[in-house]
Parts: sequence; structure tokens; C-alpha cells
Amino acid sequence: MTPRAMKPADGIAWITGGSSGIGEALARRLAGHGWTVVISARSADKLEAIAKSHTGKGRILAKAVDLVDSEGVQTAVREIEAEYGTIVLAVLNAGIYLPINAEKPSFDDYRKTFDVNLSGTAACLCALTPRMSERRSGQIAIVSSATSFGGMPTSSAYGASKAALVNMAACLRIELHRFGVLCQVITPGFVETPAQDDNAFPKPFMISAAEAAKRIAVGLKSKRFEITFPRRFTWALKAIYALPYGWSLGLVRKQTGWDKPV
Ligand SMILES: NC(=O)c1ccc[n+]([C@@H]2O[C@H](COP(=O)([O-])OP(=O)(O)OC[C@H]3O[C@@H](n4cnc5c(N)ncnc54)[C@H](OP(=O)(O)O)[C@@H]3O)[C@@H](O)[C@H]2O)c1
Repeated sequence: MTPRAMKPADGIAWITGGSSGIGEALARRLAGHGWTVVISARSADKLEAIAKSHTGKGRILAKAVDLVDSEGVQTAVREIEAEYGTIVLAVLNAGIYLPINAEKPSFDDYRKTFDVNLSGTAACLCALTPRMSERRSGQIAIVSSATSFGGMPTSSAYGASKAALVNMAACLRIELHRFGVLCQVITPGFVETPAQDDNAFPKPFMISAAEAAKRIAVGLKSKRFEITFPRRFTWALKAIYALPYGWSLGLVRKQTGWDKPV
């Protein structure tokens, strides 16, 4: 069986990090396409409010879970499937950005970033891939970031976690193919969400969360490995990182203003 993009008639969608930003916008978009979407995050009240406010096609349902609790994730997936239906599409989108400054790094911030972005995603995968492999069908999309492409100042935790997610998705893409399960990675550039509120970086070509959701929804209908946008930004960034390190890191240093003396 060849992996294929899932459709609303196949089962339900699960989006982690669905209480705000890209996850919320994608839930609304997919529901609008007729999907039953279960959204997860820690904030039960926000999830419920989004679920209640949804009108029109499809359904949005709330299931609160902290992804750092791997047992809790197993339970949540079991309960979602028992209560609402088979998860055929999972968008593992929950993530945090904590800036790390090299001159005063916080080990706690490194750990928190890896716990949520990496271990949290792995916990979801441990609940999903056995089920989907056994069913010989399903689709998993992991939300990474354009920061995964190469070095960025203050991103030694976030960027490392997002680069690891690309590798994780690539490994699973190969393995899951023979079980008929599609695995994709999403590498957005800047998207206007609450996560960007405290980010002092220049944010070229930033798009709205609704626009990001639209592009993700298109990508999910395809079978391509990487869903990346806005391409004028992510492709330019990829081209920069294809240069020898001496050039690419120098360029990024300049573009981000990190070439100025302290
Ligand atoms: N915005 C951008 O420019 C951008 C660019 C590239 C990639 N991304 C990635 O896109 C994804 C969504 O980001 P966003 O910008 O939409 O951020 P956001 O609005 O801050 O959303 C992050 C989501 O993750 C959830 N979350 C955080 N920690 C969690 C935990 N321990 N367990 C469960 N859920 C948790 C949050 O809900 P609770 O706090 O309620 O748990 C929230 O729903 C992230 O992976 C981010 O790295 C964003």
C-alpha cells in the first residue's frame, strides 16, 4: 500500500498546540474543509472556547494534555480514538521558543525547549505510529521551522530542536512508507502568532496564521515531504545555507544585526 493524503471520510484529525496561533488557525481551516478536528494543548479553557466558537462545516473538539507527560499523551490518544474516532491525520504542531543568550545561557530553557519540542513530539509519535502502522494508513505532519535550516542567533535550543524534528520526520518518512503511512515536515518562515510577540528579530515576509494554515492545508493534500512557506523567504534561506559555512554564517550574522560589537 502506497501512503496517501488522508481525507475527512477516512477518520479524524488531531492537532497539537491547537489553543493558539498556527494550530488554532489550521483547526479552523481543516474543520472548514469538513474534518472533525481534535485540538490539544495545556490550556483547557482556551481549547474549549475555540471548540465552542466554531460554526459551519466540520467539528472542533477539545482534549487538553501536556505533551511533556508521555503517559498522559498515550491516554489522550486512546481517549480521543474511543470518544471521537480514528486519528488518520496528526499535525504535531505544539512548540515553544525560548531565546538562549550565549553569554548567560539557561540550562532550564534548553531543557524546557527539548522537553516540549522534541520529547513532546516523540511522545505523540509513540502513541500514533504503532496504531497507524497496524492500520496500514495514516498521515503525520511534524511542525519544524525554517530555523532548522542553519544557525540563527539566540536559537541554539529552538533551532537544534527544530533541526532534529526534520531528521526525525525524514527517518520516519522512510520507515513508515512500507506501512502505507505518510510522514511530512512543515518548515514555516515567520508567522504572526503570540509566539512572535516577544521575538525582537527582524521578521521578513511574515504572514498571518490564517495564511499559514491555508498553505499547510494545501501541503497536507499533497504527498510531498516538506511543506515550506513563504517560499520567497524559505528558499532564499536554504540558498544561503547551501553556501560554505564561512559565507552563510557571516551573512546571517550581518542580516540579523549580530555583526555589531556588544
Ligand atoms: N510563529 C512562527 O513564526 C513560527 C515559525 C516557524 C515554526 N513555528 C512553529 O509552529 C508551531 C506553532 O507555533 P505558534 O507560532 O502558533 O505558537 P503559539 O501560538 O505560541 O502556539 C504554541 C502552541 O503549543 C502549545 N503548547 C506549548 N507547550 C505545550 C505543552 N507542554 N503541551 C501541549 N501543548 C503545548 C500551546 O498551548 P498551551 O500553552 O496552552 O499548552 C499553543 O497551543 C510551533 O511548533 C512553532 O515552533 C512557528
